[in-house]
Amino acid sequence: MNHPDLFSPITVGRLELPNRIVMAPMTRSRALGGVPNALMADYYTQRASAGLIVTEGIAPSPNALGYARIPGLFSAEQVSGWRAVTKGVHGAGGRIFAQLMHTGRIAHPANLPEGARIVAPSAVRAEGTMYTDEHGPQPMPEPEAMSEADVREARQEYVRAAQNAIEAGFDGVELHGANGYLPEQFLHPHSNRRTDEYGGSPERRNRFVTEVAAAVAEAIGADRVGVRLSPFNTFNDLPARDGEDAEVIAQYSLLARGLRGLAYVHVVRNAHAAFPETAAGVRREFGGIVILNGGFDAESARAELTAGRADLISFGRPFIANPDFVERLRVGQPLAEPDPSTFYTPGPKGYVDYPTTPHSVREAAAGCHRPPRRRKSQVLPGQRRCFG
Ligand SMILES: Cc1cc2nc3c(=O)[nH]c(=O)nc-3n(C[C@H](O)[C@H](O)[C@H](O)COP(=O)(O)O)c2cc1C
Repeated sequence: MNHPDLFSPITVGRLELPNRIVMAPMTRSRALGGVPNALMADYYTQRASAGLIVTEGIAPSPNALGYARIPGLFSAEQVSGWRAVTKGVHGAGGRIFAQLMHTGRIAHPANLPEGARIVAPSAVRAEGTMYTDEHGPQPMPEPEAMSEADVREARQEYVRAAQNAIEAGFDGVELHGANGYLPEQFLHPHSNRRTDEYGGSPERRNRFVTEVAAAVAEAIGADRVGVRLSPFNTFNDLPARDGEDAEVIAQYSLLARGLRGLAYVHVVRNAHAAFPETAAGVRREFGGIVILNGGFDAESARAELTAGRADLISFGRPFIANPDFVERLRVGQPLAEPDPSTFYTPGPKGYVDYPTTPHSVREAAAGCHRPPRRRKSQVLPGQRRCFG
């Protein structure tokens, strides 16, 4: 049987991707005033050789701007800022989806504009602090429980932001349903204590996510919409669902069935014992393209594709320090390590100043592969060895 390699092309929705290497969404906090800028256009353009770029989390509305300096997609100025980003990426031969991220209860008022509200499915405060530029880390406040009108409004905010994304030249949007933000706050019984049609059973907790996905798909086309999920995630103060394996597996299988027809589902893996079974259920019930993420290197990524557990692999941190990550994988060059102290700091340092290796650029142009330490066995099928 012929197994797909990281470098075999694949169709995702309306896009033909030249490889299966996705740049994972990463908040980088360079958007002063919530508006994307020229620095951000440079950063994404540098990484255009990814099969697909998924942007950092972008707020669909002012209520969604829980973190300092994250960008939005709800004003004309933001749409115009993003247009420069998509133009740069497309000009360099790339493809780019906007990740729509509503932070919900993971927020602090100091990060929100005047008049914005911190909302969540229920009034359950997240333990922990949120960084603010004004006062450093601050405890996160109790959110306001959303009324049914708030739920409808939030759904419409996603729809408008998705339409804005298309207007700004994005190839599609990814709805961030992972990592403890608003959609996962609906999915998880700890943060969702509702007794209406959005809470109380796995099916009703899934409802917000499936309704938002359906409304966004209706507005811009299902083949331009992906969803990110992280079953058994505990990040952002969601307790482990110990003893609930069967329920979580069933909930996510049901959810995946409700997302059928979308461009892809993007699953963040973790070490929970029931994660593999949950992910297998998602893959089976969704029946479409699956992107898998979390701590992969080239070898483990290939193994996942070969085993048929995913169609693409996304990489986060490796893309921060290696703008030419795809070429480095192709030619087997060592990877640079990212500096976590500049992950979220404003300005160019640790953002657009990671170099490409002249080596990898030269050899990529020659279309050949130099295995590390020149071991013949490390030349992969379909690769030509470099001589000299
Ligand atoms: C600096 C940084 C910012 C991140 N921001 C986001 C984000 O905005 N949206 C999201 O879905 N995940 C975000 N993540 C998680 C990554 O997409 C990814 O799941 C994580 O880094 C694990 O993949 P990796 O091991 O390949 O880095 C972020 C990760 C990092 C390191």
